[in-house]
Amino acid sequence: MSVAILGIETSCDETAAAVVVDGVTIRSNIISSQVEIHQKFGGVVPEVASRKHLELINGVIQAALEEAGFSFKELRAVAVTHGPGLAGALLVGIAAAKAIAYALNIPLLAVNHLEGHIYANFISRPDLPFPLICLIVSGGHTELILMERHGSYQLIGGTLDDAAGEVFDKIARVLKLGYPGGPLIEEIARQGKEEAIFFPRAYLAEDSLDFSFSGLKTAVINYLRKSQQKNETINPADVAASFQKAVFDVLVDKTFAAAARYEVKTVVLAGGVVANRQLKAQFLERSNKEKVGVVYPEPVFCTDNAAMTACAGYYKYLRGEQAPLSLNATPGLKLGVV
Ligand code: KG4
Ligand code: ZN
Repeated sequence: MSVAILGIETSCDETAAAVVVDGVTIRSNIISSQVEIHQKFGGVVPEVASRKHLELINGVIQAALEEAGFSFKELRAVAVTHGPGLAGALLVGIAAAKAIAYALNIPLLAVNHLEGHIYANFISRPDLPFPLICLIVSGGHTELILMERHGSYQLIGGTLDDAAGEVFDKIARVLKLGYPGGPLIEEIARQGKEEAIFFPRAYLAEDSLDFSFSGLKTAVINYLRKSQQKNETINPADVAASFQKAVFDVLVDKTFAAAARYEVKTVVLAGGVVANRQLKAQFLERSNKEKVGVVYPEPVFCTDNAAMTACAGYYKYLRGEQAPLSLNATPGLKLGVV
């Protein structure tokens, strides 16, 4: 019998619900973005996000069921993101998921948001061969994870300061492009030359799999400031292209270094920054050279969505990993830390 799971995701500024069958068939994937509301503030305002989730959540769940052509009774489990993320935002999704699990007497599945991002890859590739190296690059995280089987995560590298997406958002702000920065930087970078300006790449110690982007961020800000002081006109497209290249060079080098070190033949990309076409192109180019496969989700499954949550939940369901109805939000939840 097939297993239909309702996924719910409210960790940041998207209110999302999806119905996924057997971890592979997406019957619906509803994402109600609050981007326009937060744009006014140049970033996500937590209190505003929670209140908006509260208004939207029931309608989004209803829409997910309707589009899927499913009734509540046909659901076999409810999967929900319980962290990391904004506390008030997470609580809205968790409360809704608990109510449904309790009323229907079906399992509640607690999904780590980062695990969800990784599982976005298993929707179309349930046959991915282990071991895998996963690079998670989102607004809040930049991590390298070694996965030896389903549900097993070893953190082998992470950022010492800013996350990759966070730096995109920050640089977009200083270039006065708007929010969220990633897609806007990608857009103007297409008109620019990536070798126009040299920005530093932080590799840290020779064998380090950790990342640091604060030096790059400062270098870009200083470049803009100095140009302004000297009354020089800058070319934002060149700045964006050169900045983007500096971030991606390090991401590519470290991910393939991790694959070599752990003798892994498949690399999986996850998180919002993976929506970037230049990032995927750089990974594919190296993939051909190193004979290591690179897999990434379709753009809609790179940024926050609930289909990935339902998919990660499906594998937990198969393992019988049910969460208690006392489940709480864990804003600082980690993945792969022992
Ligand atoms: O995974 P995600 O949707 O939310 C978090 O879990 O954080 O990632 C959002 C991040 C933002 O920082 C956004 O600027 C970045 O992903 N992003 C991109 C692109 N699309 C989204 N960064 C670079 N290029 C893009 N096309
Ligand atoms: Zn995310």
